[in-house]
Amino acid sequence: MTIKVSVICTTEDGLDALNQPHASLADSVIEIQKGSAKTVAAMMQREHPDIVLLDMPENDAPAMDQVEQALTESPGTHMVLVSSDRSTEFLMRAMRAGVREVLPAPMSAATVQAAVQSAKGHRAFGARQRTALGKVIAVIPAKGGAGATFLATNLAYALSKQHKRVAVIDLNLYFGDASLFLGDRIAVSSVADLSRQTYYLDAALLDASMVKVSEYLHVLPAPESPDEVHDVSCNGLEKIISLARNQYDFVILDLSGALDPVAVKALDLSDSIYLTLQLNLPFIRAAKRMASVFKGLGYPKEKLNVVINRFEKRGEISLSDVEKSTLLRVTRTIPNSHDACTASVNQGVPMLELLPNDSVSRALRDWAQELAPLPPQRSSNWLRELLARTQPP
Ligand SMILES: Nc1ncnc2c1ncn2[C@@H]1O[C@H](COP(=O)(O)OP(=O)(O)OP(=O)(O)O)[C@@H](O)[C@H]1O
Ligand SMILES: [Mg+2]
Repeated sequence: MTIKVSVICTTEDGLDALNQPHASLADSVIEIQKGSAKTVAAMMQREHPDIVLLDMPENDAPAMDQVEQALTESPGTHMVLVSSDRSTEFLMRAMRAGVREVLPAPMSAATVQAAVQSAKGHRAFGARQRTALGKVIAVIPAKGGAGATFLATNLAYALSKQHKRVAVIDLNLYFGDASLFLGDRIAVSSVADLSRQTYYLDAALLDASMVKVSEYLHVLPAPESPDEVHDVSCNGLEKIISLARNQYDFVILDLSGALDPVAVKALDLSDSIYLTLQLNLPFIRAAKRMASVFKGLGYPKEKLNVVINRFEKRGEISLSDVEKSTLLRVTRTIPNSHDACTASVNQGVPMLELLPNDSVSRALRDWAQELAPLPPQRSSNWLRELLARTQPP
């Protein structure tokens, strides 16, 4: 895995000294820029570097507060300060801010190399490299009633059952009801509340704003009132998604079929989009229009998937008809199971909990396993096998 290193220098001299890339850093991408502690949090949220080297000539209390804030929002980042201040007071303050190491100034190629080498040996850094950032998945109906919210929430539940930390963000801003598909818990906050407070938004505020369906599954609800919809800005949403990506293994965005600027921002920020439809002409026509919008937005084909919900094999329209019409891949089909799904929605109990053996539950489990493959099962006889291997012949 490539290591992403961001080097931030306060002076031009520092930038000049770093011009030569070092041969032993072949597995790293190094981005060098002029900046300061003031700009570091925004850069970390935008670029998600694995390692940050920040030039901090002296013990500067406001700058250290900014570093601490940046590390609260992006706790997995390996932060290294480069400074000529070696006082105990400075080192203690840096460690309290979450800085992993302080290296002596001046910033040079050798400093960058030393920081990368020592980060590789750090246990927490190794863990972050293995888990990487959370995946953002958008589920969008070709038109209303396709089943996007039902699938987004129940897929999230299936992933959480595999011990993945999952956030559902309800972006059906006028009529959002995603949290009700998973139970009837009281919302304390919404996407609009967080979007209004981006200045204060950090991991703790995000966590406190979530409806906790379980330890692994959290939902950020849509606003309570339509009056609040305009408080959700593209910048606010970007900050919420980027923070959620750092805190969860999967961030699932439940969208409506309305493509306003906030929805387009959500789609832009997604790693995968699942366009949901049913096999009838109105849905296919709507899907074709949506596919041409995606094309216009320049999304690569690999990012786009079609999910056929309420699929019945003997229908008049085939999957290849949908692929020909939308020029997109149909990557999932979910069977039709009217009574079971209605019961799940009416009772606010996820399908996997209410009816784990229903065909829709099986399809959801398959989908979750494709996104988060389970580790190979260890043989239950492993101890016996091990003993047998160590027995003398
Ligand atoms: N596989 C399925 N089989 C049978 N019924 C289903 C299936 N999936 C969803 N449904 C039903 O479809 C209804 C509508 O689903 P949902 O609210 O998720 O649609 P949506 O695409 O999110 O629509 P909206 O545009 O209103 O957001 C649900 O009440 C659910 O009972
Ligand atoms: Mg919906």
